[in-house]
Amino acid sequence: MSLWLDTCKLPEYDALDKDIECDVLIMGGGLSGILTAFLLKQKGVDACIVESDRIANGTTGRTTGKVTIQHGLCYHNFLNQIGREKTLMYKIANDEALKTYRYIVDKLNIECDFETKPAYVYTTEPKYAEAIKEEAEVAKGLGIDAEYIEGKLPLPFPTECAVKFNNQAQFHPLKFISSIIQGLKIYEKTKVLEIDVEKHVARTTGGKIKARHIVFATGFPFNYTPGYYFLRMHQKRSYLLALEIQSDSPQLDGMYLDANGENGFTLRMYNGMLLFGGGSHRTGENSGGKYDYLIQSANKYYPGCRIVHQWSAQDCVSLDNIPYIGQFSASTPNIFVTTGYRKWGMTGSMVGAKIVADMILGQNDTENYREVFNPQRFNLSASAVNLFKDTVKAVKGLAKEKFTIPKEELKEVNSGEGKVIEYLGKKVGVYRDDEGTVYTVSTKCSHLGCQLEWNQDEKSWDCPCHGSRFDYKGFVIDNPAIHPVNFLDD
Ligand SMILES: Cc1cc2nc3c(=O)[nH]c(=O)nc-3n(C[C@H](O)[C@H](O)[C@H](O)COP(=O)(O)OP(=O)(O)OC[C@H]3O[C@@H](n4cnc5c(N)ncnc54)[C@H](O)[C@@H]3O)c2cc1C
Ligand code: FES
Repeated sequence: MSLWLDTCKLPEYDALDKDIECDVLIMGGGLSGILTAFLLKQKGVDACIVESDRIANGTTGRTTGKVTIQHGLCYHNFLNQIGREKTLMYKIANDEALKTYRYIVDKLNIECDFETKPAYVYTTEPKYAEAIKEEAEVAKGLGIDAEYIEGKLPLPFPTECAVKFNNQAQFHPLKFISSIIQGLKIYEKTKVLEIDVEKHVARTTGGKIKARHIVFATGFPFNYTPGYYFLRMHQKRSYLLALEIQSDSPQLDGMYLDANGENGFTLRMYNGMLLFGGGSHRTGENSGGKYDYLIQSANKYYPGCRIVHQWSAQDCVSLDNIPYIGQFSASTPNIFVTTGYRKWGMTGSMVGAKIVADMILGQNDTENYREVFNPQRFNLSASAVNLFKDTVKAVKGLAKEKFTIPKEELKEVNSGEGKVIEYLGKKVGVYRDDEGTVYTVSTKCSHLGCQLEWNQDEKSWDCPCHGSRFDYKGFVIDNPAIHPVNFLDD
C-alpha cells in the first residue's frame, strides 16, 4: 500500500443504485475529478462524481506528491516543438495551478503538510549536462526562478550538475483531498460502462445518469469513439519506496529527479521518511526486477534504511507530452476530458479542473493558456480511423469466450510464476500461486485485442498498447479496458 493511502483514510461513499440526473457528471474520482467537482461547487454547480473503485485509489493515491511546474527537462523541448508562445502558455497554466493550490490550502487552512521546496533535475552523466544548462537558460527566459548548479548536491552519489526551480511545493495528496471532498456528491464502486454521447446518458453498474455536461476524468478514456484517444496516448509505470533512513544519511532540501528518466531516481522527503522511486517503463514492457533494483539501490545509497512502504502506479502520456484538456471531441461540445499528464498530474489536474470548470461555466479565466492543451490539436487520418473499426470487430465478444486447458499442459509453470503458453493454437496466460492453484486468462486484451504480457513484479497481465492491466484472475485493474479477460470455464 502507498504511504499516502496508509496514512490518510478517506470517507467511504455508497454505490449508485438508481437512475439519476445531474448538471455535471464527472467520471473518475482521482485528483482531476475531485478538483473539477470542487471548483464547480464553489460556483454553485451541481456536479456528481462516479468512481469505479474508491476515490483517490488510482494513480492519485500512488503519486510522489511533488507540486511543481518543473516537469523533467520539458521547457527546452517544448520551445523547439511548439514555439515560445505556447511554451509560455504551458508555464503560465502550471504556475497558476501552483498558486491555486497555495490559495486553497491557505484559505481553507488545510493541514496537508504543504511545504515550499525547490525542485531539481540532476544528472550523474556528462551527456545530460548540456541539456540541463539549456533548460536552465530557457526556464529563466520564460520568467521561471531557475538556477544552473554545478557539482555535488545533497544526494548520496556524485552528480554532474542540476537545474533548480525555486519556490515549488510538496504535500500529502490525500490529506489535501480529505479536506476538499467535503460536501461533494460522490458515488463509489460505480463503474461507467458506456456513454451515449447523443443523449448525454451514462450507463453505470448502478443505474443510468443523465447529465447536461459530462467530464472524462478517468485517466485513459474507456470509450473508443468519438475522441480516438487510444490512437494518441499510452501509459507509463514507475515504482516507489518509502524508507526510514539513518540520521547520518544525507537529508534532502527539496525534490529531486534524474534527467535520465528510465534509469534514474526520483526523491523527496515526507515527515522524516525518504520517498525513493524509479524503474519507469511503458506499461506492458516490464521483464521484472524493478522493485529488486530499487531495493538494492536504496540499500547501497542509504545503508541501514528500512522499507516502510512500496508501491507502483501508471500515468497517461500524450503524443506531444502535453495533456489533453478541453472538449472531448469536435462533435461533443458538452463533453470534456482532462488526462495525459505524463506523471505531472498534481499541477496537471489543477490545470485540467480549472479549464474544464471554466468551459462548463462559460467563463474566460483560463483563456490565455487553454489553447495549448486543446485535445483537438491532432488531426487523425482516415486510415487510422478505418483500422480502428476493423480492430473493434475482431475483439467483440472476447470476454464471453469459454475455454479449459488440461492439467498436464500447465506443468511448465512454477509456483509464483506467470507464463504465456500455447494450447490448440491459442495463446493462454497461466499463473500458478504459491499454494499451487492455477489461473488461466485470455492473453488478448479486452480493450482492442493486443497481446498481454506477464508483469512478474506485480503479478498482473499488462497491455503494451494502451496500458490496460488485469489481475492474475483476469479482472481489470487499470483503464482503458472495461471487461475482464478471464475464461468462463465449462
Ligand atoms: C509513480 C508516479 C508518481 C507520480 N508523481 C507525481 C508527482 O510527484 N507530481 C505530479 O505532479 N504528478 C505525479 N504523478 C502523476 C499524478 O499522480 C497523476 O497524473 C494524477 O494523480 C492523475 O490523477 P487523475 O485523477 O487524472 O487519475 P486517477 O487518480 O487515476 O483517477 C482516475 C479515476 O477514474 C476511475 N475510473 C476509471 N475508469 C472508470 C469508469 N469507467 N467509471 C468510473 N470511474 C472510473 C479510476 O478508478 C480512478 O480512481 C505521478 C504518477 C505516477 C505514476
Ligand atoms: S489497452 Fe488497448 S489493446 Fe490493450
